[in-house]
Amino acid sequence: MPKPVLLLTRKLPDAIEARAARDYDARLNSSDDPWFKDGAEIARRAAECGAAGVLCAAGDPLGAATIEALPPSVRIVATFSVGTDHLAIPAATARGITVANTPGVLSFATAECAFTLMLMAARRAGEGERMVRARAWTGWAPTQLMGVTLEGKKLGIAGYGRIGQELAAMARAMRMEIHYHNRSRVAPELEQGAIFHADARDFLGAIDILSMHIPGGEATRKWLNAEKLSWMKPGSIVINTGRGGTVDDPALVTALSCGHIRAAGLDVYDGEPAIHEGYYGLENIALLPHLGSATEETRNAMGHRALDNLDAVLLRGTVAPDAVR
Ligand code: DGY
Repeated sequence: MPKPVLLLTRKLPDAIEARAARDYDARLNSSDDPWFKDGAEIARRAAECGAAGVLCAAGDPLGAATIEALPPSVRIVATFSVGTDHLAIPAATARGITVANTPGVLSFATAECAFTLMLMAARRAGEGERMVRARAWTGWAPTQLMGVTLEGKKLGIAGYGRIGQELAAMARAMRMEIHYHNRSRVAPELEQGAIFHADARDFLGAIDILSMHIPGGEATRKWLNAEKLSWMKPGSIVINTGRGGTVDDPALVTALSCGHIRAAGLDVYDGEPAIHEGYYGLENIALLPHLGSATEETRNAMGHRALDNLDAVLLRGTVAPDAVR
């Protein structure tokens, strides 16, 4: 039996490419050639090689037009990400194509990234690093770069799924008080004392630091807008490691410029890799290049999880464990 053809849109960790090449007729993109940025090109290559599966990644444009242009040979699109906002799931379902993601395995790493940004924003670490690198540091001074401590602060987690819950566990160790806003209240064993706010205004008015973990897509677009920012206490901090589109960038720039929001930390951007110009001119913001899941352990786990999904459909003819609808 010939091995099923698997089209990989992106360069993946060595162990993942080796497993793919062992079990499939794998068409690798080991140079990370940016053809993956073009949905028509993804569909063209899938047709050219007769792909049975496509292994894509966050941000690859697999919207309705790309999904509809995929050849009939494609039975599964497995994404190397937990986020699925780049995939037209209804269009895939209508064509009988399974879509699967990689939940769970990146929760800790992404929470770590949110925590990193929280510390960078609260303790002005980015400003300090830039000062040292610019050779502008003249020595320790009692009032230099004073930030705020996390201890005792009220952390508000918007979107209390796996990543938000990991962040809550880390924040408890810093003696923070945890609040959350979610579609629905979670079970007490997951809540672990965190305070649920059904109402966004009530939530945003209660907290000192907001960490965003809500999924991307039209329904959550610009969720954090000027009005919601105005509900936050003066001197609050905003962190986003979810999806860039959930924040209204000009509104956040204004709130940071006037000091209503003390500091921010972003890992994700609307239309990334482009970044809203206003952020570059601000000192009180830490900007990371979408590093949320970027640990060796996590990226390997994500690759194995994506291949597990592909194997289920293409090698065993069963349901993908992480099939999404
Ligand atoms: C995801 O998995 O959705 C991240 O954004 C990329 O790690």
